[in-house]
Amino acid sequence: MKHIPVVVIGFGPVGRALVKLMIEKEGELKQRYNLSLDLKCILRSSVAFFPSPSSGSLNLDLLEKIDNPIFWHEKPSLDYLLRLTPPGVLFEVTSSDLKTGQPGYDHIKKALINGWHVVTANKGPLLLYFQELHKIARDNKLKIKFSGATAAALPVLDVGKICLAGARIFKIEGILNGTTNYILTRMNEGISYSEALLEAQRKGIAEKNPSYDVEGLDTAVKLALLAAALFDFQLGLNDIEITGITRITPEEVAQASKQGKKIKLLGCLNFEDNSLKARVRPEVLDPNHPLYFVDGSNKGVTFFTDFMGELTIIGGKSDPRGAAAAMLKDLINLYCNF
Ligand SMILES: NC(=O)c1ccc[n+]([C@@H]2O[C@H](COP(=O)([O-])OP(=O)(O)OC[C@H]3O[C@@H](n4cnc5c(N)ncnc54)[C@H](OP(=O)(O)O)[C@@H]3O)[C@@H](O)[C@H]2O)c1
Repeated sequence: MKHIPVVVIGFGPVGRALVKLMIEKEGELKQRYNLSLDLKCILRSSVAFFPSPSSGSLNLDLLEKIDNPIFWHEKPSLDYLLRLTPPGVLFEVTSSDLKTGQPGYDHIKKALINGWHVVTANKGPLLLYFQELHKIARDNKLKIKFSGATAAALPVLDVGKICLAGARIFKIEGILNGTTNYILTRMNEGISYSEALLEAQRKGIAEKNPSYDVEGLDTAVKLALLAAALFDFQLGLNDIEITGITRITPEEVAQASKQGKKIKLLGCLNFEDNSLKARVRPEVLDPNHPLYFVDGSNKGVTFFTDFMGELTIIGGKSDPRGAAAAMLKDLINLYCNF
């Protein structure tokens, strides 16, 4: 049995879902993968929770204790915590800042310098410091895994890196954002943009401030992470042509629908004249397009390759639990050679 020390930093919906999943899957991780996770600490912005070592770090009482503020203490420094135990995995799930990459950048760097692998769903530090952080990881013979940051439970990175190893991917097209796809699907069914957005917010699919999704930024950031991971290309948001869905009119949707087509927000990475072009924009798809049937809050990606042909993956949960599951998958793949 491999015993893996784990620290979780960030305890919003994703951090919480992750801890819950670790508890639920504890037995399965041991039986199927010979992995025993030892949760050392959970950190929030100013407080920390330490599971009692005597009762085993992952048990059902843990969630009750976590919900009781008396078990949270003043937060020690991350450096101090990371040096207290043999290294394992830092799960970095603090809020994403696309302008500074903080606080995730500091956390990831500290973990790598102290010998810890990193599994993160945080896009900001990777968007801004992908090369630098990966160099530190390589220099220390460690890994940064970030499935949760690219399309949560849709395994885009694993398919691109592992399943298509050896093939040249010359284009990737994706519906990478569940919120915008939900809104466009509902508009296609006849309701207005604002009604569809309100509905998505009521269902918890869209944020109260939906601009990051509807203006296409979330899709663009995911494209940038895919470009870095699969093509070794560092793109900034300024390198990506971005048009969101806010200006799509009901008439345009109805017109497409009349012709048996659908409007979808597509992210595209495409090699043209040996340079990588990236764009996000609404496009009219006909039923022959592999992503035409990706509806509701589903996502989908098509890879166009030289010798493996065209490959499309669709689905994958995109809520906090889906992101948490993608992170647990990353941890399993760090330690198991399949
Ligand atoms: N929500 C999703 O479905 C989803 C899907 C894919 C990826 N993601 C990404 O996953 C990450 C987490 O998402 P979320 O929705 O759980 O985020 P969130 O609601 O913003 O929660 C962030 C957590 O980070 C903590 N935090 C902030 N600064 C910190 C610091 N300096 N030290 C320690 N903890 C700190 C916050 O602490 P306090 O509790 O003290 O405020 C909070 O617990 C984000 O980067 C997000 O973009 C989210």
